[in-house]
Amino acid sequence: MDRYAVFGFPVSHSLSPKIHSQFALETKQALTYEAIEATPGAFHSALETFAAAGGRGANVTVPHKAAAAELAQRCSPAVTLAGAANTLCWADGGWEAHNTDGVGLVHDLKVLGWSLCGRRLALVGAGGAAAGVIAPLLAEGPEQLVILNRTEARAQELCDRFKNVPGAHKLAAGGLHTTLAFDGVINATAASLSGERPSLPPSLWTPGAFAYDMMYGPTATPFLQWAESCGIGARADGFGMLVEQAAEAFTLWRGVRPSTKGVRRSLRPVAPTPNDNTP
Ligand code: ATR
Repeated sequence: MDRYAVFGFPVSHSLSPKIHSQFALETKQALTYEAIEATPGAFHSALETFAAAGGRGANVTVPHKAAAAELAQRCSPAVTLAGAANTLCWADGGWEAHNTDGVGLVHDLKVLGWSLCGRRLALVGAGGAAAGVIAPLLAEGPEQLVILNRTEARAQELCDRFKNVPGAHKLAAGGLHTTLAFDGVINATAASLSGERPSLPPSLWTPGAFAYDMMYGPTATPFLQWAESCGIGARADGFGMLVEQAAEAFTLWRGVRPSTKGVRRSLRPVAPTPNDNTP
């Protein structure tokens, strides 16, 4: 049977094995999917062992996304730009790297019914997680996409790196103490991992704005708790993005697209608010 796995450190909390097992059942694909914990130093050899034992594809999560992009024999244009990969496909004796995070995020925002076209968006954070979603967000035609980061110079570096992608004239950089207001704010920082949130001003939101945290967990993230305290009604964590990026990866591996409806319903830890448009 073909083997698939998610690599991370830590990885025991990952929902990916459950998601892909449901996808496999639904699409009648014969495969196994496991979680493999590998320290940063052991990641490369763990992948080699996995391929030798029949590994045909892998998801890659924190902290291995940049390493996955570096060690792959071939990279998609999205991976080359972002410098980060979340999906690996075994092909022709080597790993091919893809990044399905951005497409997953945009799919989830569509399921939630939160439009991006013509809206003023902020993307908070300037690491690999942010870099992976910039091009797909720009492709949706926002009025503006401002990258806000604690270290403002990193936000500017990202803008410079993406200056040739379609819609790049909509990109701008700023710090967390911005005076601008946005119709949608997407948290792509790693702050939740340490129980924190980016220190942003309450003036950040326009009336009716949405708050999205690319992280997810069993309870609302600190960023979403703060958004609620600012009176923001439309809030969602990154669970839907996780499911949608997984569906993209599954399609790359197996050539068949699973429906995400069942998984979204059965595995979701925290419901989006207030309009749950999840089918
Ligand atoms: P990843 O690949 O997951 O994006 P990363 O490259 O280490 O990880 O980037 C982490 C991001 O989270 C950065 O934008 C970081 O801000 P700095 O560039 O200023 O370091 C941001 N971040 C992490 N903890 C944060 C916190 N407590 N408040 C605000 N931003 C935070």
